[in-house]
Amino acid sequence: MANLRLRDARKTYGALEVIKGIDLDVDDREFVVFVGPSGCGKSTLLRMIAGLEKITGGDLVIDGTRSNDIDPSQRGLAMVFQSYALYPHMTVAENMGFALRIAGVTPSERDRKVREAAQILELAHLLDRRPKDLSGGQRQRVAIGRAIVRNPKIFLFDEPLSNLDAALRVNMRLELMRLHERLAATMIYVTHDQIEAMTMADKIVVLNSGRIEQVGSPLELYNHPANIFVAGFIGSPKMNLLPVTFESSSPDGVTVTLPNGGAVTIPVAAGATKAGSKLTLGIRPEHIRIGRKGQFAGEAILAERLGGLTVLHVDIVSGQSLVVQTEGADTTPLHTPISLQFDPANGHLFDAEGRSLARLN
Ligand SMILES: Nc1ncnc2c1ncn2[C@@H]1O[C@H](COP(=O)(O)OP(=O)(O)OP(=O)(O)O)[C@@H](O)[C@H]1O
Ligand SMILES: [Mg+2]
Repeated sequence: MANLRLRDARKTYGALEVIKGIDLDVDDREFVVFVGPSGCGKSTLLRMIAGLEKITGGDLVIDGTRSNDIDPSQRGLAMVFQSYALYPHMTVAENMGFALRIAGVTPSERDRKVREAAQILELAHLLDRRPKDLSGGQRQRVAIGRAIVRNPKIFLFDEPLSNLDAALRVNMRLELMRLHERLAATMIYVTHDQIEAMTMADKIVVLNSGRIEQVGSPLELYNHPANIFVAGFIGSPKMNLLPVTFESSSPDGVTVTLPNGGAVTIPVAAGATKAGSKLTLGIRPEHIRIGRKGQFAGEAILAERLGGLTVLHVDIVSGQSLVVQTEGADTTPLHTPISLQFDPANGHLFDAEGRSLARLN
């Protein structure tokens, strides 16, 4: 068992509060990803869990024990950093076994654990090499191996793949997911890359300015973002956001006036929002179709061809622009009038404070 609870966790540097009251449950064997923009507090929060930063308020509970003041070495956690800092003069095996040597583990036991980890990470043939004779991905695996041999209750990763090239990142992402399955371990992983978060996580924690914006599974966040911040952060290309005006509400949903004067009814509950208020309509690029008629008229001005799909940038008549995702073989002509259509059931509405209006069932 390895679970972790944070209750109103806070971190201040002098008068500056950078972690502003975090409540979070990480369950046994869960793969939890902290995601958010640079400076939002991801590393700080992870380092507070690891014991590398003092927690200035609230509680950290690991397996039922309040752990705020427990020494980092006694927390049963192992951390893998972005800069994996292997010892250059030691072999792969020595690097991987170093923490065990310090802990006084016998050479034979150490050797057994290092070989076992090397097997899992496909490093067995490289145990006698030095770090300078390894590729970036192999070095990263050695850093992960150092964590595995310690058999931690919880693995902590801080952007471990950001030094790797794009192809290797995708590979290592898959390897980490396999490792999670194989070790049946609890893992907390920090990244600013929403694609890593979406593909790897059981549970995503979206952080912004030291606070949690939303916690949920990848598809919960994609389908039901709690606010504009999460809506804009999760999903690529980003959700389109248009200024609209609340016209009326009915059992079918909320009817809004579009920037071009048209009206559309989104199946959400009005809540406390009143007629005349300014709202934001969110439409994902993959939910817009190009056709003969639709809610918007405009002209495509730019096409990004990615092979398997095409991303069109369309200026609409009211002066805004929309991003539309279509198939790779898309033949929409540029600078020619077109119509854009979306199913209102796929639309999102946000109130003046940026909160999502609840979907009707
Ligand atoms: N020792 C410190 N003193 C004062 N402020 C600090 C200190 N360490 C970090 N901060 C501030 O805390 C905030 C959170 O930093 P943190 O490193 O946790 O961000 P992050 O989300 O990991 O960002 P990145 O994606 O760039 O790694 C930042 O605004 C940072 O400037
Ligand atoms: Mg960081």
